[in-house]
Amino acid sequence: MSQSFRRLAATLLASFVSAACFAEEAPAAPSPGQTQFIMNCSACHQATGLGLIGMAPSIRNPDFLSLADDAFIKETVLKGRAGTLMVPRPDLEGENLDMIVAWLREAATGPVTVDKTKEYPAGDAAKGAELFKTNCASCHGATGGGYMASTPELPLQGTGIGLPGFIHSVSDDYIIQTLKTGRTGTPMKKFIGAAEGDPAITEIEALDIIAYLRSLTPKPEQAAE
Ligand code: HEC
Ligand code: HEC
Repeated sequence: MSQSFRRLAATLLASFVSAACFAEEAPAAPSPGQTQFIMNCSACHQATGLGLIGMAPSIRNPDFLSLADDAFIKETVLKGRAGTLMVPRPDLEGENLDMIVAWLREAATGPVTVDKTKEYPAGDAAKGAELFKTNCASCHGATGGGYMASTPELPLQGTGIGLPGFIHSVSDDYIIQTLKTGRTGTPMKKFIGAAEGDPAITEIEALDIIAYLRSLTPKPEQAAE
């Protein structure tokens, strides 16, 4: 599989380079980080890094970059997200990954604001299950399986937020802040403090949803036992 990705990436790179040659005003050559991104990531996240609904999320996105520090992005690449197309790429560790992250970070508009250590009260998983069904399942899937759980009758727009590779690697604050801001340019709208008339949940309800999603799979360290 990874060989065909590489072939696809090489084709994309070739067309990018030839397009650049024929453009009237040739755009600046891609930076090394962007070149690495095009080779390794753009088949899914697109050359802009802004993703494709139903395929891969928008990651050169200021809202995402305000929540994801470099370590989080690198860990996602090195470990992948099990059960999704985001396969682990340990081979990129080091300079190549550093350059990719630096290129993504160019689109950030402010510092990373997630407080991983912030303690929120524990939510109620049973209430969260109901809230998830009403507010989130239409895009993220009945149990948060995301794109991979799509069927022809029900294509899903959202990522796999119920899968262990996501839900056990993010802090409560990461999810709460996602729900307070949404992801500009994607179907993920803000839910906490949403505009009048839009679907809305409270912070307490968000904590219930988080408790529900975390209850779906054992934490990796528990899984070993
Ligand atoms: C074959 C497709 C594919 C390729 C290639 C790919 N990704 Fe992904 N990536 C995905 C999918 C799908 C997800 C969302 C998985 C999910 O449902 O949680 C994702 C998620 C991510 C996330 C987490 C985003 C978020 O909102 O939490 C980051 C960061 C990321 N990818 C970075 C990269 C980088 C950097 C590369 C290149 C080294 C790359 N990806 C290559 C498909 C891909
Ligand atoms: C209209 C469709 C839609 C609905 C409804 C929706 N989401 Fe999303 N959500 C998305 C999409 C699409 C993304 C990925 C955005 C992107 O491309 O970066 C996303 C991303 C997320 C992320 C970030 C995932 C990551 O990998 O960083 C979280 C957390 C999230 N949603 C939680 C929720 C919760 C909780 C609910 C219900 C209260 C909800 N969403 C409802 C479409 C939706």
